[in-house]
Amino acid sequence: MQISPSILSADFANLQAELEAVADADWAHVDVMDNHFVPNLTLGLPVVESLLRVSPLPIDCHLMITDPDRWAPAYAEAGAGSVTFHVEAAADPCGLARRLRAAGSRAGMALKPGTPWAPYADLLPELDMVLVMTVEPGFGGQSFMADQLAKVAAVRESVRRHGGEIWIQVDGGVSAQTIEACAEAGADVFVAGSAVFAAEDAAAEVRRLRELVRAHPH
Ligand code: DX5
Ligand code: ZN
Repeated sequence: MQISPSILSADFANLQAELEAVADADWAHVDVMDNHFVPNLTLGLPVVESLLRVSPLPIDCHLMITDPDRWAPAYAEAGAGSVTFHVEAAADPCGLARRLRAAGSRAGMALKPGTPWAPYADLLPELDMVLVMTVEPGFGGQSFMADQLAKVAAVRESVRRHGGEIWIQVDGGVSAQTIEACAEAGADVFVAGSAVFAAEDAAAEVRRLRELVRAHPH
């Protein structure tokens, strides 16, 4: 059970201090948006490279970008511990996942809420993580979509049948109110942006989220 705070809701003028505030988490989730795949623009490779130099945590890059086949491997080569691309944007998800792993990163594949799991289940052997989006990607602070839990359960069932160490991440609207339902459905990596960085004490909120899922091992 791992917690990955999303710095999308952190203070972008003080990212190093914000990362240090959540240093007890497992990962730092960094949302790369290109104003094309999603209607929002955040940061790109140069900022990720700078974060990698100062982060006390391994970096979990969530790429909400068009043409990840072209752009994603550079994030793995830069040293991100995990790189997740959107399957809706990838021309060759299998080849891309292989290139990410060859560059030394874990390979993650994300699904938007409207994207079904079944057509992609065969890709599991190429993946280290499946990200089930629980909001439409693009913005922090949106409401959790409980109808995505059935997809989390379907991915968990595929992983159980396949075997191996494949993580299931949820991202969007994850908070103290929703995290247990995610864990019960089979998620084991929890991204939380506004829940952590809007809290008075971000470190305490990470501990609280961790405590809530501890009782729900899949
Ligand atoms: C949204 C991003 C999320 C975002 C989640 O597209 O992928 O990582 O930061 O924010 P919250 O936790 O506030 O829903
Ligand atoms: Zn994200």
